[in-house]
Amino acid sequence: MSLLIDVLPLSDLDGKSAGCRIGLSSMLTPGKGDNGQAAPDQIGLRQPEIIADVARAAMTNFSATKSMFQLPQGVVYLDGNSLGPLPKSAGTRVAEMMQDEWGQMLITGWNKAGWMGMPTGLGDRIGRLIGAETGSVVVGDTLSIKVYQAVASALELNPTRKVVLSDNGNFPSDLYMADGLLRSLGPEYELRTVDPENVADHITEDVAVLMLTEVDYRSGRIHDMKALTELAHANGVVTVWDLAHSAGAIPVDLSGCNADFAVGCTYKYLNGGPGAPAFIYVAPRLFDRVRPALSGWLGHESPFAFDLDYRPGAGIERMRVGTPPVIQMAALSAAMDIWDMVDMNEVRAKSIELTELFITRVEATCPGLELASPRDPAQRGSQVSFRFAEGYAAMQALIARGVIGDFRAPDVMRFGFTPLYVDESDVEQAVEILADIIVNKLWDTPEYKIRQRVT
Ligand SMILES: Cc1ncc(COP(=O)(O)O)c(C=O)c1O
Repeated sequence: MSLLIDVLPLSDLDGKSAGCRIGLSSMLTPGKGDNGQAAPDQIGLRQPEIIADVARAAMTNFSATKSMFQLPQGVVYLDGNSLGPLPKSAGTRVAEMMQDEWGQMLITGWNKAGWMGMPTGLGDRIGRLIGAETGSVVVGDTLSIKVYQAVASALELNPTRKVVLSDNGNFPSDLYMADGLLRSLGPEYELRTVDPENVADHITEDVAVLMLTEVDYRSGRIHDMKALTELAHANGVVTVWDLAHSAGAIPVDLSGCNADFAVGCTYKYLNGGPGAPAFIYVAPRLFDRVRPALSGWLGHESPFAFDLDYRPGAGIERMRVGTPPVIQMAALSAAMDIWDMVDMNEVRAKSIELTELFITRVEATCPGLELASPRDPAQRGSQVSFRFAEGYAAMQALIARGVIGDFRAPDVMRFGFTPLYVDESDVEQAVEILADIIVNKLWDTPEYKIRQRVT
C-alpha cells in the first residue's frame, strides 16, 4: 500500500515540487501540505481515489500501518517511545528531496519547493494529534531548545514572580534547561522541584511557571493536564507542558485544556527519525503577548528586510529561530503521512489493549519483575516499565534475542507500545522470550553487564 504513496510524482505542475510532501490528512480534509502550499486537488495528484481508499482502510487497520514501516525480520520493536522506526516511504522522500529539490533547484528550493513553509505545515499536522488550533504549532530546533524558549517566554508573561515549579520525575534536560535559564536571569529566580504526586499542593501564588512533562519518561505516569492547568490559572501561573511522551502516544487536547505553552519531539512516537526536529505550541490567545527570548531572524516579522531591530513575527511564526532542517523534515513528512491516516482515540484504545496484555503476561511468567508503571491504564501513557535489579543485563539479553526495549537507571526496564506497528503477537512473543531470560537467568553473563554509552 505504501508503494502507491511512494510513487507519487515529486516534480509536477508549474515546476513546483509538491506531490510527495502532501499529507493524506490534506487529502481527507482539504487544506495545505507541509510546505503551506496548494492542497492536493489543486496540484493534480495522480490516483487520488486509490490513495483515499488506503487512507480510509487504515483508519481502523493497524496491520496496514504496520506494513508501512521497515521493521527488521525477527525483531519485536518495543522502543518506539524512544526512537520510532523508519517509515518505508521516508527513504524515497528524502532521496527525492535531495535529488529533485536540493539537487535541481538549489537555493530556489526555499521558494519553489516551499521549504520555508514546512515548519508550520508540519506543525499543523502534528497539531491535529495534540488538540492544537490550526496555526499554533511550529517545528524546529531540538526539544531542549524549545523547553528553554517556552519557559523564557512564559516567565516574561509573569514578570513579578520568580519561581518555576516542576517535579523531580521530570526529564533531566527540562530541569537543566530551566535551571540554566534561571541562573542567567539572576539569583532571585528559583527552580522548585517537588514529588510528582504533590505538584497540585505547590501551585501557589508565588509561582510564575508550571513546567511539567505530561507523561513521565520512566514510569509512564500521566499528569492531569486539564486539572493542573485549571489550578495553575486560578493561581495566576502560566503552564508549559512537555509532550515528548504524549504526542502520538495518547490523545492530547491542548486547546480544550486551555494550555499556554507546549513542546515535544518528533523522533519518538511520531517516527521522524534520529535527530528529527522538535515542536512548540503557543495558545493563540497569547500570540501578541509572547516575546521570543530566542529571537532568531526567521522569527522576525520580515526576515528578508534585514532590519537591525527585532520585531516578532505574526502568531506562531515568532517561535521560529533559524534555518529549518529541510532534509530531516522530509523524513518527518513521510512519517506524518501515516499519522494523518489514524485516529488518536483508536491508537489509544489499541495501546491500552497491548499494555494490559503485556502486564498480565509478564506478571504471570516473569518472577522478580515489579511493575513500575501505574496499574490503571487511564493513568498510564503508552509505555510499561518494570523494575528488576538486573534490569540492564536482562534488557541486553532481550535485545540480543530480537526484542528491543530500553533501560533507565537505576533498575527500570522500559517497553513502548506503539499500535501503528506493534500488535498482540509481538507482545506474546516478547513476553515468551523475556520469561525465558528471567526464569533461566539468561541475563547472567558478563557480556550483558557491560554498560554501553546509550542505554
Ligand atoms: C521529556 C523529554 N524532554 C526533553 C528531552 C530532550 O530532548 P532533545 O534531546 O531533543 O533536546 C527528552 C528526550 O528524550 C525527553 O524525553
